[in-house]
This record gives sequence, structure tokens and C-alpha cells, in this order.
Amino acid sequence: MIDTMSELHCIILAAGKGTRMKSDKPKVMAQLAGQPLITHVLNTCIELAPKSITTIIADGMDDVAAAVAPHKTAIQKQQLGTGDAAKAALPALKGAKGHVMVLLGDVPLISSDTLAALHEAATENGLAVLAVHLPDPTGYGRLVTDDNYVTAIVEDRDCTPEQKQITLVNAGCFCIAADKFEKWIGAIKPDNAQKEFYLTDIVKIAADDGVRCEYVEGAEHELRGINSKSQLAEAEGELQNFLRAKAMFDGATLVDPMTVYFSMDTQLGRDVIVEPNVFFGPGVKVADNVTIHAFSHLEGVTIEEGASIGPFARIRPKSHIGRKVTIGNFCEVNRATLKEGAKSKHLSYLGDATIGEKANIGAGTVIANYDGFHKQDTTIGKGVFVGSNSTLVAPVTVGDGAYVGAGSTVTMDVPADALAVARSRNVVRDGWASTYRTKKQAEKAKK
Ligand code: UD1
Ligand code: MG
Repeated sequence: MIDTMSELHCIILAAGKGTRMKSDKPKVMAQLAGQPLITHVLNTCIELAPKSITTIIADGMDDVAAAVAPHKTAIQKQQLGTGDAAKAALPALKGAKGHVMVLLGDVPLISSDTLAALHEAATENGLAVLAVHLPDPTGYGRLVTDDNYVTAIVEDRDCTPEQKQITLVNAGCFCIAADKFEKWIGAIKPDNAQKEFYLTDIVKIAADDGVRCEYVEGAEHELRGINSKSQLAEAEGELQNFLRAKAMFDGATLVDPMTVYFSMDTQLGRDVIVEPNVFFGPGVKVADNVTIHAFSHLEGVTIEEGASIGPFARIRPKSHIGRKVTIGNFCEVNRATLKEGAKSKHLSYLGDATIGEKANIGAGTVIANYDGFHKQDTTIGKGVFVGSNSTLVAPVTVGDGAYVGAGSTVTMDVPADALAVARSRNVVRDGWASTYRTKKQAEKAKK
């Protein structure tokens, strides 16, 4: 059993160039279920409640540093390999006791249970590695074993033809006795095909020091590394299936699960119905008895009980949809709050707005919230009726119970219970059309 009092320090290697991703962004910032790879690994580390978490980054990876903050980062000056990256953690590990767990920033689906098992294995000898059996081990370091111990890890490009046949591979994560860490990491040399410092050489180095390396086998779906865009897509598919199953387990109805996409933090209540082709971006929280109709795209919104969204609705971040609100087809909601019972059933843009209880927003309403320089706020009171095809030019306030006539462009505040009409006056002339026709026909006949 793990001594739960034993100190644990996690380091996450994230400084690599990620060349195989063919991207200008750091690999660990690639998104999986709405969050960067590094955030997946960090959150799993946090579950282990370690004494410290240090992420190794390259110079200029400010976005990675921001993603892991307030946890610390250390800089690897040149990307000379995973062994060299681990070395960059040494200053942060001064005086560390217990164990150091080294994780890879590109192995995002690893679970804390698997890491706990690795930690436990390392308590015996002071060194353990996470392994996985892969039907196609191409690209991974192969584990050479003897009894139940690892005697060497050989990188794919350094393998002999026989070693290439080994399907037990290195998942990339080590747990190392803190008092040996500096000594073993310091002894790694770049004696290999790539002239890199391989963290995996630690196995032989520890053996020379009389310490045998244990290995713990984990599940394939948790331990695949992400080195290319197609591996990223495979991991996304794997994770989406898990999130779909979880949503249904928690009581949501997904009419066609394979067409619904979730973020890690999506929260759905009971008896939520999600029709086909719905996308949940980050930060969506849905209460009980809400229906999300087909083809809706939601991000950063809290939706209260009994609301109805879509079909074809887009809700953007910082929005709040109250109880029993209806957002219908082709409506966009952006940084807006709709209070209980408000309705916007067709074709509208509601940006930077607060919309009162039971207000009714007619088809084609646009809130003009942007003047080309600044965003401005609009307040629409309780029970307001906004007629179809109206434009409300922000900043503007429409008081409780007021009416806005259809086709109006409202640029002035409207008092409570008033009527605002801002369109050219309607003119109807009896018989005008037949007189006009007769005149024109006569003109034509003369020619
Ligand atoms: C690595 C392992 C391999 C294992 C595989 C599992 C080594 C030498 N190889 O290979 O045995 O099967 O992971 O997925 O350890 N990094 C740095 N600095 C560097 C180089 C890499 O921080 O100089 C980071 C990367 O950002 C990445 C991680 O280390 O998050 C792994 O690097 P990567 O180049 O992907 O190693 P693999 O070739 O996948
Ligand atoms: Mg990798």
C-alpha cells in the first residue's frame, strides 16, 4: 500500500517542439474536449494531491504557463530530449522527499488511479514505469523485461528487428525515488540515433546503481500519446464516447449520441433531452428538464430548468438563460441574460443585453451592441414586447411593459408601458394602383 503520508512531486514535460503536429502552437495546447492537453494532465495530477506540480516548458510558451498557473513552470533552454527536460525540474525539486512522478504532457487521458498504482509500485524499489500493450507499437519505446522487471527501454528508431516485435511499450510516465532523482537523471547521455537525452535511459542507469525498475500496466485508451493530428482526433473520439456515456448515465437523453460533442466540463441535469448534432463548448451548465434541439452550438452558458433551446441556436460565452426561457431557431445570444419565461423564438441577435421576465422578442430583432469601437449594454424590461424586425441601438433601455412597434430602429430609451415606433409612417391610398396602371397602359399604347 502507498504510504499516504509520503511526499509526491509531479513534473510534466511539455517543452517539446511537437514537430509531428505540424503546428505553430505548442503541442500541449492542442484541444481535447474543449481543453488543452496540458490541462487534462494537470487536472489528473491535482487529483493525486501532490506536494508540488512543475511543468517544463520552452522559452516563450507563455500560453502553457498561463494554462497551468498558479502551478509553477521551469524552462528547458534547448529541447534536447525528455531526459534533459526532466533535468530542468531539478531547481524546483530541491529538498524534495518521497517520490517524483514524471508525466508527459502529450499523454492526456491517463487516470489518477493508474498514476496511484504507479506510485505504489515505486515505493518498493524506488523506480517504476507505466507500460501498455499496444497491438501496433510503432513509434513507442519498447520495454525489454526480465521476470517482472524492466531491464531496458529501447526507442523505436534504436530497436533491433527483434525488439521491434515487442508490443509492451513505455507509456512515458515514471515514478522515481526523490533521493535518487538528481543522480540518475544527471547520468543520462545522448548515446542514441537521435543524439537526444532519453529519460528512458534511467532504467539502465538505476540497474547499474542496483535498483530494478518495476512496471505497471495500464489501459490502452488512457495511455496513447499524441504526436500527430490523427492521433489527436483518435483521442478526441475516445473521449467523446466516454463523455456521451457519462451524460446518459447521469440521466440525459441523447437522441443520437454519436452526433453530440461535449467539453470536459459540460454539466447536464436529469431529463435533459439533446437532439442530434449539438455541440457543447467549454463552460456549459444545463439544469433539469431542458431540451436542446438539433444543430445548436453552446459555449459558456448556464441554462436554467425547463428552458428550450434551438433548433439552430447559437449561445456564446457569458450568457445566462433563465427558467422556461425559449430560444428558437436561428437566434444568437452573446453575453446576454434572459430572465424567466422570456422568449426569442426566431432569427435574432441578442448581444450584451439583459432581457426581463416574460419579455417577447419578435422575429428578426437585432441588438446593435457594437459601434465599431465599443460594446454597449441594452436593458429590456419585464414583459416588454419587441415587434418583429426591430433594431435596438445600444446603449438603450426599454422599460417594463413597453411595446416596440415592428420594424423600429430604437435609439432612445423607452419608458415603462410606453410605445416606441421608429419607422416611416404607413400610407394607404385607395384606388391608387388601378389609376396608375391605367395611366401607364395609355402611355405605352401611344408609343
Ligand atoms: C516518448 C518516449 C517513448 C514513449 C512515448 C510515450 C522518450 C525518449 N521516449 O516518446 O519511449 O513510448 O513517449 O508516448 O522519453 N519534451 C520536452 N522536452 C524535450 C522533448 C520532449 O519537454 O526536449 C516533452 C514533449 O513536450 C512531450 C513529451 O516530452 O510532451 C514527450 O515527448 P515526445 O517527443 O512526444 O516523445 P515520444 O517520441 O512520444
Ligand atoms: Mg509523444
